[in-house]
Amino acid sequence: MDGTRRPIGMFDSGVGGLSVAREIRRTLPAEDLLYVADTAYCPYGDRPLEEVRTRALAVGRYLERAGAKLVVAACNTASGAALEQLRQALAVPVVGLEPAVKTGAAVTRNRKLGVMATAGTLASARFARLVRDHAHGVEVVPQPCPGLADLVEEGHFDGERLQAWLEQLTQPLKRAGVDTVVLGCTHYAFVSEPIARVLGPAVQLVDSAPAIARRTEHLLRGDAGRRTNGSGTFTVLTTGDPRAVALVVARLWGAAVPVDTVAV
Ligand code: DGL
Repeated sequence: MDGTRRPIGMFDSGVGGLSVAREIRRTLPAEDLLYVADTAYCPYGDRPLEEVRTRALAVGRYLERAGAKLVVAACNTASGAALEQLRQALAVPVVGLEPAVKTGAAVTRNRKLGVMATAGTLASARFARLVRDHAHGVEVVPQPCPGLADLVEEGHFDGERLQAWLEQLTQPLKRAGVDTVVLGCTHYAFVSEPIARVLGPAVQLVDSAPAIARRTEHLLRGDAGRRTNGSGTFTVLTTGDPRAVALVVARLWGAAVPVDTVAV
């Protein structure tokens, strides 16, 4: 790596953050991406906030040591638990993810907004603040989705098992009559089609990944090492089993990506 060629660091509990990496790749095709899947600790969503915070800080610090010029916490749960702490701990800018409540509240027509996310995200003080400051009187129906990120990690992007679980998870949203649903976990973008099918054509989905890519692009505007030519590299590291992770990454990324182990 030469002095100016520093990657954008990214992490998630697993492969979900690839939905954000995909958007960043589209917006900034020449940038190198260094992605850590903290698979050994996946899912984050059911773990105590303190543990998720400890993991997020450890992985964030690793990325900074590895030369990242900016870190994207491509995980709503990790951002909900540790975004402020990450910003304090790291010298480089940190971009966090949060459920797109603001956008959802702006586009719902019947003023009923569902939010599908992990239990950890929905229980966080950050989420409570988000609803307080940005729902603007819209009724917000939070829906925890235990097990959904795991299905994506296991490669269930469609099929009966996923369908059955989605039918069950979305029942409260249907009963509440929401016309808009925010995908508040980066894993869910990879099953947005089955989610849309189960919710029906009258319900629109909102994902925050495109906005995160725009934010990242904006933050790098003044960067002297900003890359504009050629195509950037994509490096994936995991704290789990690299062979298993590589299989899922290849399907989600649409190309084989070498995956190595990292001890964090
Ligand atoms: N992808 C993570 C998020 O955006 C959560 C998945 C998990 O529970 O680990 O919240």
